[in-house]
Amino acid sequence: TNAAATAAPATPAAAKKISLGFAQVGAESGWRTANTKSVQDSAKEAGFDLKFSDAQQKQENQIKAIRTYIQQKVDVIAFSPVVESGWDTVLKEAKDAKIPVILTDRAVDSKDTSLYATFIGSDFVEEGHKAGKWLADKYKDTKEDVNIVELQGTTGSAPANDRKAGFADEIKSNAHLKVIASQTGDFTRAKGKEVMQAFLKAHKDIDVLYAHNDDMALGAIQAIEAAGLKPGQDITIISVDAVKDGMTAASEGKINFIVECNPLLGPQLMQAVNDVVAGKQIEKRIVTKEGVFTSEDAKKVLADRQY
Ligand code: AHR
Repeated sequence: TNAAATAAPATPAAAKKISLGFAQVGAESGWRTANTKSVQDSAKEAGFDLKFSDAQQKQENQIKAIRTYIQQKVDVIAFSPVVESGWDTVLKEAKDAKIPVILTDRAVDSKDTSLYATFIGSDFVEEGHKAGKWLADKYKDTKEDVNIVELQGTTGSAPANDRKAGFADEIKSNAHLKVIASQTGDFTRAKGKEVMQAFLKAHKDIDVLYAHNDDMALGAIQAIEAAGLKPGQDITIISVDAVKDGMTAASEGKINFIVECNPLLGPQLMQAVNDVVAGKQIEKRIVTKEGVFTSEDAKKVLADRQY
């Protein structure tokens, strides 16, 4: 007998692993690292064949990765779009190839919603509202101007656009709350530090920093301390994410208020992949639940924080 005759039968088609192509934004923040780990761990647990790529915050790299997944004929493509615009062409290519696409974390602004199966992630406008509401409450009786500087996330990204809009909407009813400078810090610590340094040079009277994520706030804290000021006291600091380093700074009183953005999207994504492959109807929008933390809250939960 030859070897082929005694070999185990080929794996039946039904037992074939589901292949998932995931095009990640990059590794720009603590949030992103936690998000990547969540996706990788959950894919492993679900028994999927995960193909993972890191776009280094560049849309062109993500488009390339998606095209590669289409060529490889993966079962499902998931990605977290770096920016909101400019996806229609590649999404149509996936649709023509009959490969379902799931958006995670960040949205696209495509008018044609048939280009993706669902969008799983936070409500970033709501996050901006939570940040703005806390500040508006804090200064509701102020008789003086409150000078706010803003560190925006990656230009053109959904979280930068939406966190800015939600915050602005919340503070607009009080004319004393003034955003005197607003620039991108690209969601990174290094850029947050650099831009905050420039803000401090240009403005001697900054009362509040609103950073669109913890990493930029942490970079800014270094700049504030280097300028001989006390973060959390001389300058009130608000940020978004609630990753461990941010929560540590909050527990030390250096960040006054953090709006949570949950990076642990892996389990929900794998569930959606299973459902889409099984041909089930799924919700077009799956919103993650999240809270807010003051310095006091951060002290209480810090020890149990997983990421
Ligand atoms: O899209 C989510 C945002 O991206 C997080 O708030 C930020 O930290 C990350 O880089």
